[in-house]
Amino acid sequence: MKIAMVGTGYVGLVSGVCFSDFGHEVVCVDNNPDKIAMLERLEVPIYEPGLEGLLAKNVAAERLTFSGDLADAVSGAGAVFIAVGTPTRRGDGHADLTYVFAAAEQIAKSITCYTVVVTKSTVPVGTNRRVKEIIAKANPDAKFDVVSNPEFLREGAAIDDFMRPDRVVVGVETQEAETVMRDIYRPLFLRDFPVVITDLESAEMIKYAANAFLATKITFINEIAALCEKVGADVKQVSKGMGLDGRIGNKFLHAGPGYGGSCFPKDTSALARIGQEHAAPMQITEAVIKVNEEVKRRMVQKIEDLCDGSFNGKTIAVLGVTFKPNTDDMRDAPSLAIVPAMIGGGAKVRVVDPQGKREGLDLLPGAQWCDDAYTAVQDADAVVILTEWNEFRALDLERLAQGMSNARMADLRNIYSENEVIRAGFGKYVPVGR
Ligand code: UGA
Repeated sequence: MKIAMVGTGYVGLVSGVCFSDFGHEVVCVDNNPDKIAMLERLEVPIYEPGLEGLLAKNVAAERLTFSGDLADAVSGAGAVFIAVGTPTRRGDGHADLTYVFAAAEQIAKSITCYTVVVTKSTVPVGTNRRVKEIIAKANPDAKFDVVSNPEFLREGAAIDDFMRPDRVVVGVETQEAETVMRDIYRPLFLRDFPVVITDLESAEMIKYAANAFLATKITFINEIAALCEKVGADVKQVSKGMGLDGRIGNKFLHAGPGYGGSCFPKDTSALARIGQEHAAPMQITEAVIKVNEEVKRRMVQKIEDLCDGSFNGKTIAVLGVTFKPNTDDMRDAPSLAIVPAMIGGGAKVRVVDPQGKREGLDLLPGAQWCDDAYTAVQDADAVVILTEWNEFRALDLERLAQGMSNARMADLRNIYSENEVIRAGFGKYVPVGR
């Protein structure tokens, strides 16, 4: 089937590449000519393990192309995916749907045969109905259906999540559209991955509810971690003990510096807005947003306490600044709150991140970038582990301690144990919730 993917951001690019790998003929469209030129040179603008190889493979097989010409890509396509950004609207926390609606209007004008217009972008409940109205108005003769097909990809594991999903959610209104979607996802149907076929509104809601629930789970354990510190419990043991209950599950129970990224902060805030607008306040989600901000402040306090109560004049090495490992994404990363607070308090901050420098350079003004952890800690007063990249999981702790003028560690991802850190020569070690 010919598929047009409108938007070559994170979701669009991963989905387009994976659909081409399923055997479909995919055109990825973007209105940024530099991005298209880059992709045509087989260069991937984002860091996502496995993506570059899969992209090159499918371009070579002539199933995957890139284009700036939306009309040409849409014309004759069996399905057109909208995968443009829905950032948080400045001022009110709502999802900004400008790009989605603009794409819908452009698509409408290029529809030449029965086309299924699929929204992959995360959009508030009711958006697909509006997309339907926009298309019908812009092109009253168009034969089309709209479908809601939210994505559940995790950055850093996106290809695997796409190829081996926990579930595929498809919100449809007609049998014809359902048949097209079954055809698109045929390789997954054949391998019996669960597919939830539902209505448009439920599909839209599933996405927000899932992300808000996961954000709640993380925030819950972060709050428990704060209490563990006060009462002398160990949050790692608590998570383990809780997670063994099949009803709770052990995933997303790792205490840390607060959730970040392009999804949880944006989607929790949009869900809270949707609730307010419909007089069904999302009180739990609202509390989660508030507590997550507090978690970041608590981390700043923790590091300041480690530095004898003041950042002033201290040199601090920060290991990891992306919102999680295996991504170059800095959006809403806890580092964006924590590092400026340290610099603002008078600290000299050195940062290391395997992929974060390109985006992080402008976002962390005043921070000094280093190539590796050992260089960053030279003569430092403290080291902070902020993102659990693999290379920070197996550090030579003795070498690290020897290079520092005052060997102290804040381990905000609970990677190490107090015993091993102290044994390696550190004077102080503070984890989270232990
Ligand atoms: C999240 C969801 O996991 C995906 O299912 C969803 O498709 C995606 O959002 C989206 O809506 O597009 P992602 O933002 O890539 O994926 O990252 P996660 O792996 O979920 O991590 C989010 C944040 O939570 C990170 O800052 C991470 O460090 C933090 N986290 C996660 C914890 O602090 N503790 C945990 O136990 C798990």
